[in-house]
Amino acid sequence: MAKSLQDTTTLHNGVQMPWFGIGVFKVEEGPELVNAVKTAIKHGYRSVDTAAIYGNEEGVGEGIREGIKEAGISREDLFVTSKVWNADLGYESTIAAYETSLNKLGLEYLDLYLIHWPVEGKYKDAWRALETLYKEGRIKAIGVSNFQTHHLEDLMKDAEIKPMVNQVEYHPHLTQKELQSFCQKHGIQLEAWSPLMQGQLLDNQVLQEIANKYDKSVAQVILRWDLQNGVVTIPKSTKEHRIIENRAVFDFELTEEDMERIDGLNQNHRVGPDPDNFDF
Ligand SMILES: NC(=O)c1ccc[n+]([C@@H]2O[C@H](COP(=O)([O-])OP(=O)(O)OC[C@H]3O[C@@H](n4cnc5c(N)ncnc54)[C@H](OP(=O)(O)O)[C@@H]3O)[C@@H](O)[C@H]2O)c1
Repeated sequence: MAKSLQDTTTLHNGVQMPWFGIGVFKVEEGPELVNAVKTAIKHGYRSVDTAAIYGNEEGVGEGIREGIKEAGISREDLFVTSKVWNADLGYESTIAAYETSLNKLGLEYLDLYLIHWPVEGKYKDAWRALETLYKEGRIKAIGVSNFQTHHLEDLMKDAEIKPMVNQVEYHPHLTQKELQSFCQKHGIQLEAWSPLMQGQLLDNQVLQEIANKYDKSVAQVILRWDLQNGVVTIPKSTKEHRIIENRAVFDFELTEEDMERIDGLNQNHRVGPDPDNFDF
C-alpha cells in the first residue's frame, strides 16, 4: 500500500512504477500544459502520463525538462508513459511511432509504452514491436490500455512477454472487479484513467458524506480508494491548487466499510468509449 506520493509498485519485470501520477489528456500544447507538468514535479509527482494522440508530447517534454531542473532531480527519477495510437498499430509502424514520441518528448527512453486501444487484428503485431523495443532495452516496461479480459487472453496466447500494466477507465461508477482480479492473477498492474470520472462524480451524495467524515474532498476520497484497491492513479489537473489537493491522500485511511460503500456505487457506467465497441 502506497504510503507517500513517490511510493512505487513493483511491476512483474522488477521496474518500480509510482502509484500516483499526473495525466494530461485534452491539455493542448502551450504554457498551461508546460506549467501543469512542471508544477506537478515541483509538488513531488514523479509520474506523467501522455499519449501520441493527445498531440501534446512536445509540451510534456518541455515541462519535464524545466520541472526536473527546478526540482534538482534527474530524468531517471521520473516515470514517463506514452501510448501508440491506433493508426500506427503494426510492427514497423509501431516502432516508428515510438521514435516519433521519443523525439517529440525529447527523451532517450520511456518508462512505459502502451498500446492505446485493442484494435482487432492489429494489436498483436504492435505487441511484437513493443517486445522488440523492450528487449533492446529501449523501454523500461510495456503494457496495454483499454484491454478487456478476452483481449488480454488473446494477446498472451502469442506473446513472449506479458503486459506489465493495463490502463483502463476506472472510478466508483466503473469498478472493474473481474478485470482487476484477472490482472492480479497474471501480475498485470491495473492503472486507472479518468479516476475522477472527468469531474462528474464530485457532487455524488455518498462520496460527499464520506469526504465530510474524513475532512477530505470527494476527489481525495476517490483517489485514496484507488490506492487502497491497489490501482495506480493519474488524475489530470492543470490547476496548481488541485495538483496539490489531489496528492494529499496519504494522511488518512478509508475504513473497510467505506471502501465497500464506494465499491457499491458501481454502475458499470463509462464516460469513455467501450473497448468492445469502438470505431476509431
Ligand atoms: N488510456 C486511455 O484511453 C485514457 C483515456 C482517458 C484518460 N487517460 C489518462 O488518464 C488521465 C486522467 O483522466 P481524465 O483526464 O480523463 O479525467 P480525470 O482525471 O478523471 O478528471 C479530470 C477533470 O477533473 C478536474 N479535476 C481534477 N482534480 C480535481 C479536483 N481535485 N477537484 C475538482 N476537479 C478536479 C480537472 O479539471 P482541472 O484541470 O481544471 O483541474 C479535469 O476537468 C488523463 O489525463 C490521461 O492521461 C487515458
